[in-house]
Amino acid sequence: MSATESVRVRVPAKVNVQLAVGAARPDGFHDLANVFLAVGLYDEITVTPADELRITCTGPDAAQVPLDRTNLAARAALALAQRHGIDPRVHIHIAKDIPVAGGMAGGSADGAGALLACDTLWSLDTSRDELLAICAELGSDVPFSLIGGAALGTGRGEQLTPLAVGGDFHWVFAVADGGLSTPTVFREFDRRTEGTPVPAPSADPALLEALRTGDATALAGALSNDLQPAALTLRPSLADTLAAGTAAGALASLVSGSGPTTAFLTKDPDAAKEVAEALHTSGTCRTARVASSPAKGATVV
Ligand code: C5P
Repeated sequence: MSATESVRVRVPAKVNVQLAVGAARPDGFHDLANVFLAVGLYDEITVTPADELRITCTGPDAAQVPLDRTNLAARAALALAQRHGIDPRVHIHIAKDIPVAGGMAGGSADGAGALLACDTLWSLDTSRDELLAICAELGSDVPFSLIGGAALGTGRGEQLTPLAVGGDFHWVFAVADGGLSTPTVFREFDRRTEGTPVPAPSADPALLEALRTGDATALAGALSNDLQPAALTLRPSLADTLAAGTAAGALASLVSGSGPTTAFLTKDPDAAKEVAEALHTSGTCRTARVASSPAKGATVV
């Protein structure tokens, strides 16, 4: 590849089919048993040689994306360049389709995507383990954006064990107006659990078995998110969205990660279309998107 060519990487969103949260640790993070599932909504990151590090973004939510060095894509390029003693002279373009600040790891996707794209553009051939270590420095969800598929995340969510998935699952995601700040949702979790013992988080064997066998009904019965009560306290209107999706025939509904996106598991693609239409007309969300899982992790396209 010549030095002037661009590299484009596609990165999926995620939903947490289980998010078990432990007590706050001394470093402020929480130990998790976090079962990630990558879903087929994607951001595309294109990197092109430039005079200096620069970020642009297009897409319906582009106005909410920071274009400075706080963007995880910029931080990824800087971290990789620093390790190799090179100048991160690159234009990073983000074609954003994942909801912003929505609990679907859109920012993490951009970090993982920029890392893989720059590694390819600069022909660095960094090992998978080192890329994962850089991802973990960037944020708790970034390693999963790189690997995709399904995985159990322990520690603060960054220590991954890939999981087998025996079939496709069909989802609808209801996108809310505005975002929710992840630290604020965790703080609300702390407030709600103050003075009560918080059990150590562990993965639910029934949920792992449902993933392994590709059984949507069993997965629906096992979905759980310990952050959901906190997200509902901060955004009470999400209860109406969850109720609208359930009334429209979803097998189960839950808040995605720290929210405010809500996720609806359906039995097949036709049911997903029906639930999406019902959510559209319910007036309880900004838009509803259909997507299936699992999806591949960050991939050069
Ligand atoms: O790792 P990341 O930068 O994505 O985390 C964002 C914030 O979410 C953290 O600063 C922390 O407030 C909260 N968090 C947490 N425990 C985790 C992951 C994130 O408290 N396991």
